[in-house]
Amino acid sequence: ARIYVAKDSAAVAVGADRVALALAAAAARRGIDLDVVRTGSRGLYWAEPMVEVETAAGRVAYGPVGGDDADGLFDAGFLDGGDHASRLGPTDEIPWLKRQTRLTFVRCGVIDPLVLDDYQAHGGYRGLARALSLGAEATIAEVEASGLRGRGGAGFPTGRKWRTVADAPAVRKYVVCNADEGDSGTFADRMIMEGDPFVLIEGMTIAGFAAGASKGFVYVRSEYPDAIATFEAALGSARRAGFLGGNVAGSGFAFDIEIRVGAGSYVCGEETSLLESLEGKRGVVRARPPLPAHKGAFGMPTIVNNVLSLAAVPFILQEGAKAYADFGAGRSRGTMPIQLAGMAKHGGLFETGFGLTLGELVDDIGGGTWNDRPVRAVQVGGPLGAYFPRALFDTPFDYEAFTARDGLIGHGGIVVFDDSVDMARQARFAMEFCALESCGKCTPCRIGSTRGVETIDRIRAGTARGEDITLLEDLCHTMKYGSLCALGGFTPYPVMSALRHFPEDFGLEIEPVN
Ligand code: NAI
Ligand code: SF4
Repeated sequence: ARIYVAKDSAAVAVGADRVALALAAAAARRGIDLDVVRTGSRGLYWAEPMVEVETAAGRVAYGPVGGDDADGLFDAGFLDGGDHASRLGPTDEIPWLKRQTRLTFVRCGVIDPLVLDDYQAHGGYRGLARALSLGAEATIAEVEASGLRGRGGAGFPTGRKWRTVADAPAVRKYVVCNADEGDSGTFADRMIMEGDPFVLIEGMTIAGFAAGASKGFVYVRSEYPDAIATFEAALGSARRAGFLGGNVAGSGFAFDIEIRVGAGSYVCGEETSLLESLEGKRGVVRARPPLPAHKGAFGMPTIVNNVLSLAAVPFILQEGAKAYADFGAGRSRGTMPIQLAGMAKHGGLFETGFGLTLGELVDDIGGGTWNDRPVRAVQVGGPLGAYFPRALFDTPFDYEAFTARDGLIGHGGIVVFDDSVDMARQARFAMEFCALESCGKCTPCRIGSTRGVETIDRIRAGTARGEDITLLEDLCHTMKYGSLCALGGFTPYPVMSALRHFPEDFGLEIEPVN
């Protein structure tokens, strides 16, 4: 008999290792030969530790399962899909999974992340094969036609970035994968690196081939030790199988990947400070221009892409640009791995085409809050993203719709708050976060964030409130337009959205402005 238990670090954090051991021990006691396959997570974190059983009718899921449930599961005949209080039903029929469109995460939670044969048996490396047969130029054209945009948050067209690097004359070029996933409530990059590392390796290899780069770096945060270990092991397997090295897949193209680990700075997720840090220097933002596409790592033209952008590429090459572009809304094509977090009842990874409304995502898919109190606000796009009140829950999840409402989708993180949230405190937190994480290079961010904390403190204390509100608005304007990078430039989004949509939390009686 065969069962699947995630070894994804979030699943392990809620006891997946204990469950795997308990089930193996219970099987041994009963003389059952049990094969326990450790996979990535399916992303139903609300149901982890989840156990899937291979039955004649396909996989059947149980979750959340506790270590104490092992004997009960065997007694209930779970190896044949038997009934148990934790039974979720056939995995593919679980509504939360069935409603998704999994293109990037199609294998995550399904395969053993470190078995290359498993990856290839599920479509892996067909994208690279097609890219190698198409040639570099047509590969870039395919990515352009797919409409793929930067999934790190900024939404810049990926194909156009690749073309810029391909066209830049240089003796050496690089592909840098940004895995410094720092946004609050986000974990999709980690899930890919732990659950399907070869898809990222393949995506980076295709990017290198398209742009004429022979070396790739993955810059990953030190807070992700499991992702680092899994990815390192996957790199070894890819090398041994000839998918990395001097002669990739027998094509004559040379490409290899190295991991560089950050040291816990939020601003090192900004591409130019990332490059400084990758080069071994202090993570301080560089002025742009020059763009990394012209002068990036070690002064050479460099593709800097987020994990999710690169991991979307194998599907696009394998199935063709149209298969990807068919999903989505408006100028936001394809799918977005959305991460539901905070107080969401059903927190986890939900990959879907762009265009669902925020309300559908929060109420319907997220199930509201885990304590069943009303949802008062959600923050979308990390600590620099705007707070949305229920009145804006009709906003479709796409780049333009969020921009039109002074927000951003960022890296796809949605953090849910119930009605006990104090939005003035959240606004203060945004300024404080900026003050702590500022690289210090420019004044609006370095000084403005500290003055912002003080101003919000005075507003909350209720002294000279009218003047301080004007001052705060003025300060946010200066930070937005005067900062060198997104950290200082975007901090006004959470601050101003909190003030605009929840004025009562700032002690104001005024009607919300629109
Ligand atoms: P940006 O809009 O300045 O640039 C986006 C990307 O396009 C960059 O890689 C830039 O080099 C490239 N680019 C721009 N013009 C180009 C051209 N003409 N040719 C080639 N490449 C070009 O945005 P930025 O400052 O890089 O990132 C801001 C975003 O980062 C925000 O939208 C925010 O959502 C996101 N963010 C994500 C975080 C995460 O953890 N994933 C954390 C914090 C912010
Ligand atoms: Fe550094 Fe802040 Fe200026 Fe960005 S905005 S360059 S983090 S000081």
